[in-house]
Amino acid sequence: MKFSRYIIRFLYKNVIKKFLFIIPPDKAHSILVSFARIYQSLPILPLITKFILTHRNNNRLKQNICGINFSNPVGLSAGFDKNIELIPTMSMVGFGYMTGGSITITPRAGNPRPWFYRLPKSKSIVVHAGLANDGANIILQNIKRQYKKEANRKIPLFISIAVVARSQDSTEADIIKDVCEAMSLVSGSGLAKAVEINISCPNIDDNQPFTYPDKLDNLLSQLDKINADMPIFIKMPNLVDFVRFGLILEIISKHKINGVTISNLVKDRSNINLKDKLPESVKGGLSGKPCRDRSLDLIKFTYEKYGDRLLIIGVGGIFNAEDAYLKIRAGSSLVALITGLMFEGPQLVGDINHGLDKLLKRDGFSSLTEAIGIDVKKK
Ligand SMILES: Cc1cc2nc3c(=O)[nH]c(=O)nc-3n(C[C@H](O)[C@H](O)[C@H](O)COP(=O)(O)O)c2cc1C
Repeated sequence: MKFSRYIIRFLYKNVIKKFLFIIPPDKAHSILVSFARIYQSLPILPLITKFILTHRNNNRLKQNICGINFSNPVGLSAGFDKNIELIPTMSMVGFGYMTGGSITITPRAGNPRPWFYRLPKSKSIVVHAGLANDGANIILQNIKRQYKKEANRKIPLFISIAVVARSQDSTEADIIKDVCEAMSLVSGSGLAKAVEINISCPNIDDNQPFTYPDKLDNLLSQLDKINADMPIFIKMPNLVDFVRFGLILEIISKHKINGVTISNLVKDRSNINLKDKLPESVKGGLSGKPCRDRSLDLIKFTYEKYGDRLLIIGVGGIFNAEDAYLKIRAGSSLVALITGLMFEGPQLVGDINHGLDKLLKRDGFSSLTEAIGIDVKKK
């Protein structure tokens, strides 16, 4: 199937992407989501597409983490499928798991449009969506509808819950109450395999209050009380300040949290070298290439200090198998992406898995687990 993926890559880069990249990014995203919704409901075609796109010879890539079986380590990161309507598509593309959301307990309209700004030469997207979503109740119904087909239950689903104020006069206690309500709803529904708590959305004008130790401690103490019988991950900010990052990890390690997702979009643009012009007036966090190296350093830092306590999901600027492999060797048990998919096309996940298999074999590993954190000494 490597050759078929080669053809798809060629078609995506020379035809589909050329078309998508001449229309405004918000429109392109809506078109993609609408197209995927129609395509995944067609008979037979999705099955054939899955056969073409997926890397199947994947024994080396299989893992069981927190009791969840992953056919491969590459997942969809939070933010692409905000209302969790595209489970069959993500399975068709060959993801080993997917993260839906971020969701909130009540619907959110998000920021005024435009939400996205493309930086093609820098392989990045500036995101300013403001956590738009249809709210937990509608989204859980979306999942239920898709789960009527048994095949759609096969891909492990993580749900990202955003920590965000419902209105301008919401207090810290109100925000925590909303998150706990969403958490109870998700965990009681039995529809998700794991939850990711997004404390680090950079495109809300709130200065990410729950990335500060005291507030985070309050939030996690309340979440502990829910006793959700599912793994919980925390979506970490992409920080330059390792001391502050370490303080956040220290708090997390004291609570009923299984792991951390490293990391969210780049908020601080001061040390980022871009190949495109980015006007000051364009608000939002940067995805893709500008996230890659700092996220890798933060993963190494976390694995070195907390590798025995916290699982790591490595995210940020994964465009090929080497990018994913470096994140695994730095300590990630799983990886996830969005921007790579938009820039490289739907065959990317199969290509990464194929490449990972080869890289692991080259380095003498019989399973992916053996390679996790191999580049880092644990303290
Ligand atoms: C279009 C878009 C929307 C996003 N929305 C969210 C979100 O709702 N919640 C979240 O935790 N992260 C969100 N992110 C951040 C991604 O999950 C990821 O952390 C970041 O983009 C780095 O990965 P990438 O370089 O593979 O895109 C979003 C990213 C993009 C590109």
